[in-house]
Amino acid sequence: MPRTVRRLLACVTAGALWAGVPALVAVTADVTVTATPAAALDNGLALTPPMGFNDWNAFGCDVDEQLIKQTADYFVSSGLKDAGYTYVNIDDCWQTHQRDAQGRLVPDPVKFPDGIKGTADYVHSKGLKLGIYEDAGTATCAGYPGSLGHETTDAQTFADWGVDYLKYDNCNNNSDGSREDYVKRYTAMRDALAATGRPIVYSLCEWGVQSPWEWAGDVGNSWRTTGDISDNWSSMLSIAQSNMPLAPAAGPGHWNDPDMLEVGNGGMTDTEYRSHFSLWSMMDSPLLIGTDLRKATPETLSILSNKDVIALDQDRLGKQATVLSSDGGRYVLTKPLANGDRAVALFNAGDQAQRISTTATAAGLARRGTYAVRDLWSHTAYNSAGTLAATVPAHGTVLLRVSGSAVAGAASLLDPPLLDAGLAPASGAVEPGQGGTVRTYATDLGVLPAGKVSVALKGPDGWSVTPQGSTGSALLAKGRTLSTTWKVTAPAGTGTGYYPLTGTVSYTGVPGRGRVTAPLSGSVLVAVAPPSGTNELSDLTWVSATNDWGPVEKDTSNGETAAGDGNPLTIGGTVYAKGLGTNAPSAVTYYLGGGCSALDSTVGVDDEKDGKGSVEFEIEADGRQVADSGVLHNADGPKQLHADVAGAQIVRLVVTDGGDGSDSDHADWAEPRLTCG
Ligand code: GLA
Repeated sequence: MPRTVRRLLACVTAGALWAGVPALVAVTADVTVTATPAAALDNGLALTPPMGFNDWNAFGCDVDEQLIKQTADYFVSSGLKDAGYTYVNIDDCWQTHQRDAQGRLVPDPVKFPDGIKGTADYVHSKGLKLGIYEDAGTATCAGYPGSLGHETTDAQTFADWGVDYLKYDNCNNNSDGSREDYVKRYTAMRDALAATGRPIVYSLCEWGVQSPWEWAGDVGNSWRTTGDISDNWSSMLSIAQSNMPLAPAAGPGHWNDPDMLEVGNGGMTDTEYRSHFSLWSMMDSPLLIGTDLRKATPETLSILSNKDVIALDQDRLGKQATVLSSDGGRYVLTKPLANGDRAVALFNAGDQAQRISTTATAAGLARRGTYAVRDLWSHTAYNSAGTLAATVPAHGTVLLRVSGSAVAGAASLLDPPLLDAGLAPASGAVEPGQGGTVRTYATDLGVLPAGKVSVALKGPDGWSVTPQGSTGSALLAKGRTLSTTWKVTAPAGTGTGYYPLTGTVSYTGVPGRGRVTAPLSGSVLVAVAPPSGTNELSDLTWVSATNDWGPVEKDTSNGETAAGDGNPLTIGGTVYAKGLGTNAPSAVTYYLGGGCSALDSTVGVDDEKDGKGSVEFEIEADGRQVADSGVLHNADGPKQLHADVAGAQIVRLVVTDGGDGSDSDHADWAEPRLTCG
């Protein structure tokens, strides 16, 4: 965006003296200079996303020199350095509370007896690089001296110490909240770093407040796109979802940063950590390990050092994955790679196993007869005729690298065909103590037959799972499916809910080349259908219930925190003895088993929030909307909803926030009644 600047001489002189001087483009007769507003960052760094470690997620303020040195040692001894991890980064709390007499920052002498300089020397002696943390405010988030107004001194101090990476935070920023102020504060440190002449990766941490993906491409090497990550599934998922649409802003030297890794910290399963690492790599995110590596399990180490996955993150083309589809939590992401391959992530954000599929051409590859496909977590090579599909466990990711080369495609004929195997979605449920049936399928997606195919399936301990037909096929031709029916019995007393069934499909490709065994997963619903007659919904056991604040309550309103903390359900002055108290967004699911005809409920916003709140009630039968209240406010009072649920297996009671956030959205289903039989 060109800017007109008067006072030609003063400007040119100042500009020439200014490191990282902007291009002075045109000089006209009426002494007008047109200049680009900001110097390009152009520090030649982070041509692929930075990889390393940062202490914050695992240690908070508990950082010291020993931890940094031991982490550097561990990078070398564990092979993580060879896998590409380079930066050992110190986060907040490394300083004392006062600058020295010369105005310079002072490392805490107890935590860092050798200073940052001595620590950096040690890290450098291992062939690694050192990162540090500061803040574009008067104090860091933990209250240590900030760099606002001290940019030149602090950048020079970091350079003198041998720092190679700066994470620059946003607490205590004295900001008027304008974008101009953000650009100014972050640009000041960029220019101060540039003026030192030392290559220092510059990592902006303004939490996405001013949409840095729109302006920071020439300010920082990366920018945080969201608030802080926590070590749990919903935090990781929501950060991933916020970061996904920002792909166009990322590229060599300037990356979206969805925050540091939580892999290994214990708040997610290994399946979830593999998804976390898969998504961060697909999204060209900085890969900054955030766990105590000295205590890492072999599984944590194997996730973090998966070179096939790291190669996606570090691919020199530097194109962040884009989302091809995401219906029902079934995400397909695709990422072009420098050698013409495409990475494809089949990511299941849902709480049950789901089949996710796409094709090589949809992922951006040219149409061919055969594609070489590599599963980057199982490290198995396959061929595919074009369809890419898998049944992905809840919260899991199948990560594929699909070759764009015809030669690789032809060579892959020696590999086994890709099989699409799983449990067919069942419409009904299995009643505890009584048998139900499920069906497995295994379809040859390759170009040649699969040989000696055999399917195995088991349930949780105490279940019986027995095949009702053939579990094998001597030769499964291209495109054909081996379908097997199984009798499944859950022990009497099994509670309502979804239970995983796990199995394998095992087969050969070209005779004489080894056998592959791939997982086959799915889940089955255990539930009892409601009895004939009129049922108060709040007396039945739901299959699942999600809610924004606190749990869904039976027969009271939603009290926002603990179970049982609500009040009597009250809409427009009328109190209801029975019902469900929710806080939008919410969804409660019941199993009907096909034997019910109608669901009737009074709905409305509870009186307890003094007239606030706006919500919309919807009823779905087997995924189809059968009732909708429209947006309701407390002033609308109680409204009657009727839904025809004839023949439905599942009914879902949904409340949305009415489109304006969930503040005070206490949504009551008052006297919801189900007519069955
Ligand atoms: C902010 C940042 C975190 C961490 C802390 C340190 O919250 O977003 O990543 O650096 O400050 O105080």
